[in-house]
Amino acid sequence: MTEPTADSGFETRAVHAGQAFDSTTGAVIPPVHFSTTYAQDGIGGLREGYEYGRSGNPTRTALETQLAALEGGAHALSFASGLAAEDALLRAALKPGDEVLLGNDVYGGTYRLIARVLGAWGVSVRVVDMSDLDAVRAALEERPARIVWVETPSNPLLRITDIAGLARLGHDAGALVVVDNTFASPALQQPLALGADVVVHSTTKYLGGHSDVVGGALVLNDDALYGEAKFLQFAVGAVSGPLDAWLTTRGIKTLALRMQRHSENAQEVASFLSSHGSVAHVYYPGLPAHPGHELAARQMSGFGGIVSVALADAASARRFAESTRLFQLAESLGGVESLMNYPDEMTHASVRGTELAVPPEVVRLSVGVESIADLLADLDQALARR
Ligand SMILES: Cc1ncc(COP(=O)(O)O)c(C=O)c1O
Repeated sequence: MTEPTADSGFETRAVHAGQAFDSTTGAVIPPVHFSTTYAQDGIGGLREGYEYGRSGNPTRTALETQLAALEGGAHALSFASGLAAEDALLRAALKPGDEVLLGNDVYGGTYRLIARVLGAWGVSVRVVDMSDLDAVRAALEERPARIVWVETPSNPLLRITDIAGLARLGHDAGALVVVDNTFASPALQQPLALGADVVVHSTTKYLGGHSDVVGGALVLNDDALYGEAKFLQFAVGAVSGPLDAWLTTRGIKTLALRMQRHSENAQEVASFLSSHGSVAHVYYPGLPAHPGHELAARQMSGFGGIVSVALADAASARRFAESTRLFQLAESLGGVESLMNYPDEMTHASVRGTELAVPPEVVRLSVGVESIADLLADLDQALARR
């Protein structure tokens, strides 16, 4: 098997990029390399550049090759978590005194990392609704930012940002444009092709896909920034372990199939909830009434597996979140199993009282790949509870 090329189809790249069979045994699945150190052919005589597990590991390289191929980037780096990947990127790109312009609807931990960890080192953060490009333009005219950082679809309100438009605005203002592509995954959206500079992932979610491995990644084209981030990966050491890298690689091979089913099920769930009398509002870009529907249809090849809903009030939202049986009440998203999340007290508790606070009547659903009839029946019985 030769390595797939940039012209190979997405599914071919997902299955084969970085996954050549083992040349010594012919094993179709490349082995997991647990060795922490590598024999040298004389001092400094490294085989394939491997020296020590923190600086490089063949199983991690296989994952990084696969990730770069999926996002259409020149380089990828894999980390122990999504936040570790974000931290490496932020420290590679920023210096004290720099500012990050951040979407007002992002994972709470991203805000916490920039405001509370990097804040102590002189980095500041400003928040804007990235789905409103006029607001972004005004914010950049008021003051430059070193990084413009967006999640689209956003977490948890599923706002859609025009990545190409944002990239133009960011670049005109001299900023690095970063897209957290965790919600869409490269199967549905490829931000580098739309003009973004860096793609960030919590591979814990759809890429891993089975809720059994925490990880993160960066994908980018710029050689110098890649060099800086790779240096931090090595010098700080938040690398993914070999088994974690291998599990992520295995998950990625079925990414396209899973995203298709996640999107189909989520569309049905969103339609069902929209027509239910107890639901005040449904946030899902696949619904024609969603303000970002047409944009999402253009820049994505499916609408994804996350649906958020607003109920009448916080008490109803809490009751709904606690009343499903098949949807399990748990943080995280993107696994094959359906999950319920009450953002205000769970994933987004760290941004309570800030501009990023999530309304307390909102519940976020990660719609899995189970039989749709069972999912709808579960939601129906949960909404019937009073
Ligand atoms: C959109 C998004 N980005 C980043 C992260 C952080 O990733 P991790 O939990 O793997 O550190 C999360 C985690 O929930 C997320 O949802």
